[in-house]
Amino acid sequence: MGFLNWIFGKRRKLDAAYSAVSPNGRVAATFVLEHGQAGYFVKKDEKIVVRKSALGLVLKDARALDHDFKLVRMHRRSVDETWETVTGQERLIKNSYNELSFYLEEVNADGRLMTIRMRVFNDGVALRYEIPAQVKMKRMVIEDELTEFALNANDMAWWIPAYQPDRYEYDYNRDALRDLGAEVHTPLTVETTTGHFASVHEAALYNYGSMTLKWAGKALKVDITPLSDGTRAHVDLPFQTPWRTISIAHDVLDLTMSRMMWNLNDPPKKNFDWVKPIKFMGIWWAMYVGEWTWAPGERQGATTEHAKEYIDACQRLGIPALLIEGWNDAWEGDWLENGEHNKFMVPVTGFDTRQVSDYAKEKGVDLVGHHETVGFVDNYEAQLVGAYEYLKEYGIRYLKSGYAGSKMTIGGKREFHHSQVGVLHYQRATELAAEHGIMLNVHEPIKGTGTERTWPNLLTREGARGQEYEGGALSPSYACILPFTRMLAGGMDYTSGIFDVTNLTKRLASTLTRQLAYFVTIYSAMQMAADRPRFYENEHPKAFKFIQDVPVNWERTVPLLGEIGEFYVVARQGRGVEDWFVGGVTNEEGRRVELYFEFLEEGANYVAEIYRDSEDAHYRDHQLGHVIEEKVVRREDRLDVYMAPGGGFAIRLRKT
Ligand code: NOJ
Repeated sequence: MGFLNWIFGKRRKLDAAYSAVSPNGRVAATFVLEHGQAGYFVKKDEKIVVRKSALGLVLKDARALDHDFKLVRMHRRSVDETWETVTGQERLIKNSYNELSFYLEEVNADGRLMTIRMRVFNDGVALRYEIPAQVKMKRMVIEDELTEFALNANDMAWWIPAYQPDRYEYDYNRDALRDLGAEVHTPLTVETTTGHFASVHEAALYNYGSMTLKWAGKALKVDITPLSDGTRAHVDLPFQTPWRTISIAHDVLDLTMSRMMWNLNDPPKKNFDWVKPIKFMGIWWAMYVGEWTWAPGERQGATTEHAKEYIDACQRLGIPALLIEGWNDAWEGDWLENGEHNKFMVPVTGFDTRQVSDYAKEKGVDLVGHHETVGFVDNYEAQLVGAYEYLKEYGIRYLKSGYAGSKMTIGGKREFHHSQVGVLHYQRATELAAEHGIMLNVHEPIKGTGTERTWPNLLTREGARGQEYEGGALSPSYACILPFTRMLAGGMDYTSGIFDVTNLTKRLASTLTRQLAYFVTIYSAMQMAADRPRFYENEHPKAFKFIQDVPVNWERTVPLLGEIGEFYVVARQGRGVEDWFVGGVTNEEGRRVELYFEFLEEGANYVAEIYRDSEDAHYRDHQLGHVIEEKVVRREDRLDVYMAPGGGFAIRLRKT
């Protein structure tokens, strides 16, 4: 824990500086108050990672909360606990940090109060602003947040642009921070010139615009997503901002194990025992490859008959749930333009919700409902309670929602998905879903900030390019970047398991066994087996066995190998079982990796069921080449596995 370093230097330049140190002593964050202005810096292993960075809020029609402060009180606290996840990459998460809170008061006539709370974990630092209820201020309109992360201009960042029409669905770029140009989304992963990997992000985003970042000459500066009126947030006091976080690791694989974001969110306040992660198929990819349509008509995908056929397939294939897109009165004509009139309680002609839901119930298959709002939130919210009740009436417990469209329409205005009003909508939809016993898979979502710890019915989200971008817009390196960037924000529905990799309408930049790897490399509490049943039953039933076996909820996760954009290999143990699963993906380069099994139980034998690329496989011209084989391995063994260019592998380790 930190100590008072200096107080009241001769010229009162430095008013105060206090440090908090991580439980393992390696990360230190120092709060400084200089000339009444608050700031902080961060060190790891005695090396500066974040240079002195500004803190403060700019308000509309009021003096900025960024100067004239005196420190009136300081509070220290330490927490060391372990909590159990409902769904996640591991069952148990350790939450251990040292905290310092700085209670500030303005020395000017306003005399307003603000607290900076700072937590230092072994995996990084978090801080937030807390504005208590006070006599001189009842509410605030925030025009700008001044928080900085003073990394070095030469640090290299993996970034996607913010404020763009396709939300988070962009290919990653790699540039020095000084070359960022415009605002970028978080998590922003950075390789520092000091030899660290860092990720700047936020946790517990509620009732505030989402944080983007821009390079402001000497530091990354926060840029809060604006509302249509140009301000960033309207809030009543008391109020606290989301946590501003920086995860720091020496080894990039450790970055993927940072659980700080979830530790900064509250435990659930309700009972979520009913929440169950699940695998599902869908009346879905058939639309992408042009066999069926979302729109009503001759090739309409969502018919009672097709739904029954797919329900039967789910039952035969042991996939417990089915998504049906195009089921409602929404898809006529140009659906992206017409979304304003979408109906969420009216099925399309040819689809009988009662018959389909009764049939699903009889076959023991869960249905996954679908609400494509096209971002017309006003229209959706007007129907939301009824729409959830409709699902309940038909026994539908899972829902995929979607917010396609470049902006949202909220209160009659065009707003960013990531603005305060967007954030409020996503949260309202999640809380209302919890009240109705509904579990969510949100597409075009707000990015993950760990709120699913508090609301575990938010099972997964999209929030990056998924496989719908295949057919030209996904390169093999993309899935090797995601684990170190987007996935730091939590689970993603990547719509894995497409076996029709050579389809000319939507040709995948993937080999067949890479499709299996995704079930392990891309964590999601709802995993889609995204292809049509005939590709599983008739074309590749042996490879499909892996999709049947792989769990969707995990006991432990052990990243084994990886470099950003190059390759990634991870091992996970299924929750409630003894089996381990290993998945690996590579970029355009083929490579042989040596696996080690130190995570396995001492003395035990495991049958490794290996699904790998053949030596001549290639994501361009020999996508289907694969080998399925078995070997016995023990903890002390090593195993060489080949990944073809654009390929990957999956292994089930079955304890004997
Ligand atoms: C985009 C979603 O990501 C995709 O899964 C869905 O099929 C379409 N929107 C239509 O709702």
